[in-house]
Amino acid sequence: MKPFSIGLQIFLLLPCLIFGRTTVNLPNPSDDDELLKFPDDLMIGVASSAFQTEGAWDVDGKSPSNWDEYTHVNNFGANADIACDSYHKYKEDIKLAANGNFKFFRMSLSWSRILPTGSIGNINYNAINHYKNVLNEVKKQGMIPFVTLYHWDHPAIFDKFGGWNSEKMIIAFNDYAQVVFKHFANIVKFWTTINEPMVYCYYGHGKGFFPPGDTFEGRGPYICGQNMLIAHAQVYHLFKNKYNNSDSQIGIVNACWNFYPENPSEPESADIAFEYNCGWLSNPIFSKEGDYPVIMKQRIKENSYLEGLSTSRLPELTEPMINLIKGTSDYFGLNYYSSRMSDKVEKTQSGKWFDDSGVNMTINNEWPMDVATWIPIVPEGLGDILRIIKNKYNNPPVYILENGIASNGSSYDLVRTKYFYSHMKEMLAAKNRDGCNVKAYVVWSLLDSFEWVAGYRQYFGIVYVDHNSPQRTRTPKTSYYWLKDMIHQRALPSTFITPLKPLKTIDSTGTES
Ligand SMILES: *[C@@H]1O[C@H](CO)[C@@H](O)[C@H](O)[C@H]1NC(C)=O
Ligand SMILES: *[C@@H]1O[C@H](CO)[C@@H](O)[C@H](O)[C@H]1NC(C)=O
Ligand SMILES: *[C@@H]1O[C@H](CO)[C@@H](O)[C@H](O)[C@H]1NC(C)=O
Repeated sequence: MKPFSIGLQIFLLLPCLIFGRTTVNLPNPSDDDELLKFPDDLMIGVASSAFQTEGAWDVDGKSPSNWDEYTHVNNFGANADIACDSYHKYKEDIKLAANGNFKFFRMSLSWSRILPTGSIGNINYNAINHYKNVLNEVKKQGMIPFVTLYHWDHPAIFDKFGGWNSEKMIIAFNDYAQVVFKHFANIVKFWTTINEPMVYCYYGHGKGFFPPGDTFEGRGPYICGQNMLIAHAQVYHLFKNKYNNSDSQIGIVNACWNFYPENPSEPESADIAFEYNCGWLSNPIFSKEGDYPVIMKQRIKENSYLEGLSTSRLPELTEPMINLIKGTSDYFGLNYYSSRMSDKVEKTQSGKWFDDSGVNMTINNEWPMDVATWIPIVPEGLGDILRIIKNKYNNPPVYILENGIASNGSSYDLVRTKYFYSHMKEMLAAKNRDGCNVKAYVVWSLLDSFEWVAGYRQYFGIVYVDHNSPQRTRTPKTSYYWLKDMIHQRALPSTFITPLKPLKTIDSTGTES
C-alpha cells in the first residue's frame, strides 16, 4: 500500500550524498532527530465548530438551525441549546487556545445566526458584530483565525425544500458566503467552504442519522454531494474574483480514511475504497482531469443498469461543471481520524451506497480503541493517506484540519495524548522524510462539545467542560499541557513519555480526585 517506498527515497537522496551537497531540502531519513522536528512552515492549531460549542440557540436574533430542529424534535436526550456556552464565553476559549501555544484557531460561523430567515434581505447585525468581536479577539491573542463557512448547520427553514438535495441550496450558500466575505474578508485570510461534505451527505441524505433524516441510499448522498461540490466551486470563484489577494486562501475539507486490504492478493480493494471515500469529492477538485473517479462512474452506472434504471444513480457532471469545479481549492483540507480494512464482496442489487463500491470496509480487531468504536487507533493510516494524496493529486499543500479521538471526559487523558503523539510522528515523517507538503496540523477539538448524534457521550476536547455546571467550567486536560509543551519545543521526543498523573483530575461526572 505504501506508494512511496523507502527504497525510492534513498535512491533520490543518493546523488546529494555522493556529491556531499545538500541540494535536496529533505533531511536524511535515517536522522531521527530531524524527522521529529516541526519545520518552520508547519502551523499547529486547534479546532471547534459553531453548533457544537456556541449554545445561545435562540439568542440575539438567531433562528433555529437544522440541528436545533432535529435535536428538539427527535429529542434524543441531548441538544446544543447551551452546549459549551461559547457564544458568551468565547474570550475564555480563545485565551485557553492561545495559552496552549496554538497559532491557528479553526472555528465555524452559524449560518442561522447571520441569516435567520435564509434571505440576504435580513442580515442579523448582532451576529455580524459578535463574530467581529470573536475574530478580533483571536487576532489580539496572537492567533490566525481559520474560518469554516459551513460545518453542517444551516437555517432549519431550508430543510423544508429538501436541504442539500435541492439545488436551491447552491443559491442560498452563495448568498450567505457573499455576506460573510463582505464583512470578514478583511479580517480572515484562511477560509474553508464546507466541512466533510461526504459525511454530511451520507448521514443526512442516505442513512438518515443527521438532519434532515433522509433515508435515500443509493441516490441522496450523490445528489447532496454534487450540490455541495457546485456550491463550493461557485463560492471559491466568487472569493477569487472579488477578494483575491496573494495572502488569502480558500478550500474545502474532506474526511478521508486510509484502507488496508484484508486480502493481500487483492490490493486493489484499498484503491477502490479510497476512490469511494476520499476520491468521490476530492477527484473533481484535485485531479488533473477533474470529474468523479472513473471507477465510481463505471460501477454506479453498471449497477444502475442492473437495477433496471436507464441512467446512472450518480448524477453526471457536465463539461462546464467539471471545469467550474476543477482546481477550486488552494489546499487539500484533510480530516483524519482512523482507518479501515477493505475487502472485495460480491455485488448485490440492494442499491445501498457503499455496496456500489463492491468493497466491504471493516475494522481490524487488533486495532486498539477508546470510547468511540468508530475510531480504532491507526496512526500509520495518517502517514499513508498523506503519501497517497501527494502521489495522486500532485503534492498539494495539505492542511490537516482535524485529528483527534473521543474519550470518556477524564482530565487525565492518556489515550488521547498518546494518540496525538503517534499521529504527529507519522505526519512529521510524511513531511520531513517523504516530502508531503503538510502545512498545518489542527487538533480536534479544543472543548468537550456537543458531539452530534452522540450528544455528550463522546468527548474530543483537550479541555474538559463540566456540562452540569451553569458556568460550563473549563479544565485543561493532560493532553492540553502535553501539546502546549510540544508546540513550545517544536519537536517530539523519540519515544512517548507518559505524563505523570496531575495532583487533581476530573472524571466524566465532574468529580475531582
Ligand atoms: C489571485 O491572486 C494571485 C496572486 O496575487 C494570482 O496569482 C492569481 O492569478 C489570482 N487569481 C485570480 C482568479 O484572480
Ligand atoms: C462485511 O464485513 C463484516 C465484518 O467482517 C461481515 O459481518 C459482513 O458480512 C461483510 N459483508 C459482506 C457483504 O461481505
Ligand atoms: C475514563 O477512561 C480512563 C482511561 O481509559 C479510565 O482510567 C477511567 O477510569 C475512566 N473514567 C470513567 C469515569 O469511566
